[in-house]
Amino acid sequence: MTVRPEESLDPASWDEFRAHGHAVLDELLDWVRTLRERPPWQPVPEEVRAGLRLPIPHEGIGLDGSWQDFRRSVLPYPWGNVHPRFWGWVNGTGSPSGALAELATAIINTNAGGGHQVAPYVEGQVIDWCKAMVGFPADASGVLVTGGSVANLVALAAARDAGEPRISEEGVGIVPGGAVFYASAQTHNSVDKAVRLLGLGQRGLRSIPVDAEFRIDLAALQQAIAEDRGAGRKPVCVIGNAGTVNTGAIDDLTALADLCRSEGLWFHVDGAFGALAAISDRLKPLVRGMERADSVAFDLHKWLYMPYDVGCVLVRDREAHRRPFAAKASYLAREARGAAPNDHDPGSLGLELSREFRGLKVWMLLKEHGLAKYARLIEQNVDQAKYLAALAQQHSELELMAPVPLNIVCLRYVGSHEGERLDAVNREVLIRIQERGIAVPSATTLHGRFAIRVAITNHRSRREDFDVLVGAIAEIGREVAAAA
Ligand SMILES: Cc1ncc(COP(=O)(O)O)c(C=O)c1O
Repeated sequence: MTVRPEESLDPASWDEFRAHGHAVLDELLDWVRTLRERPPWQPVPEEVRAGLRLPIPHEGIGLDGSWQDFRRSVLPYPWGNVHPRFWGWVNGTGSPSGALAELATAIINTNAGGGHQVAPYVEGQVIDWCKAMVGFPADASGVLVTGGSVANLVALAAARDAGEPRISEEGVGIVPGGAVFYASAQTHNSVDKAVRLLGLGQRGLRSIPVDAEFRIDLAALQQAIAEDRGAGRKPVCVIGNAGTVNTGAIDDLTALADLCRSEGLWFHVDGAFGALAAISDRLKPLVRGMERADSVAFDLHKWLYMPYDVGCVLVRDREAHRRPFAAKASYLAREARGAAPNDHDPGSLGLELSREFRGLKVWMLLKEHGLAKYARLIEQNVDQAKYLAALAQQHSELELMAPVPLNIVCLRYVGSHEGERLDAVNREVLIRIQERGIAVPSATTLHGRFAIRVAITNHRSRREDFDVLVGAIAEIGREVAAAA
């Protein structure tokens, strides 16, 4: 048998690879530096999409070949959330030094699922910083995850099993009448998904109405809990919002903490972006009560502008956090010495075993900029939201559609028109603003009316960008209304 020469994926020539790497980095940095010169978003053309439906390559086209394909087919067509005028959904922007931290993460490519290595210690440090950011006690538990959706799932799994510890052995059927979670009708759908994934079904989540400011109606919540108890169901957990996805509304978290204490319920806060208001002395009072929660979920890729993806879940009771995830397998046994998992094992605190070293970028970026800078940027975004809201209120053709407690502004074109036609007009206005490459807000429905929604978690936006947006809504609104 002839022996085939052995191969690896390392470059044949490190010098050539280094030159390529430097050129690539230069080009990518120029791309970020010149973002403003390009539209925030453009659709992916059909010929590009066709090029993304090819069979798997049998032989490779080489480093330069794949880079040229990336430049042609990928680089021009991202969603655009890095752009100063992207305010759709709740998206973060990342940062150039965040990208360098990602490069370092990829180069060392350590599996941060546990083990006696530096990653769990760095993540432990980051988790301690996260606790300090939201006012959680130093002995609370926590883990970094992909984002808010998984953070909510992890926290709600802990809540479910704390409500009835026999669930991990017997399953959810052990709870007579079924376990029930409560959240306002404005709560993000990741909570709904989590409750269903936890086996509680759609009926396991009671949707509670909101008040005029889109905050949970406390009397309705109390009534729902009493009704469920009366009907033999088991109330387990209340989910409060520190910043709803639609309008940035913040539930009365102190009242929810009091209620959960008196009712013996788990109190979870979905603070995907709003929890981080707590790092600003000025904004912290808005989320008061969050520090009393049993668990809190938030994203660092949203309002700390870290590169995707990184979210955080904190759980006050360490045992409750571990219960749904504790690793029992013999191949994961801990040892006092050697490289095996030691005391820090994030793999037992969430769904993932093998995982990216997400903590590294958080650790490096917080060291680089310091928390005070992030607090200023968050305040800047809140001030920009107030600025935009004021522009909308002052404009004779625009309407502000909801209070602006934080960083989300819902507005629309009204002109001299009324009624349902405005929904269709504004839907078209939004699409044209996106398609003309002006800006990327998104949409929502408030009290049955279509709203253009601007969520500002963007360190690159400037006040002038909001002037541009308001001008475009008014101008395109007139154009669309005239043609309708
Ligand atoms: C309030 C809220 N909760 C949860 C999520 C889900 O977070 P992620 O997209 O990071 O999974 C979001 C996302 O926008 C959100 O706004």
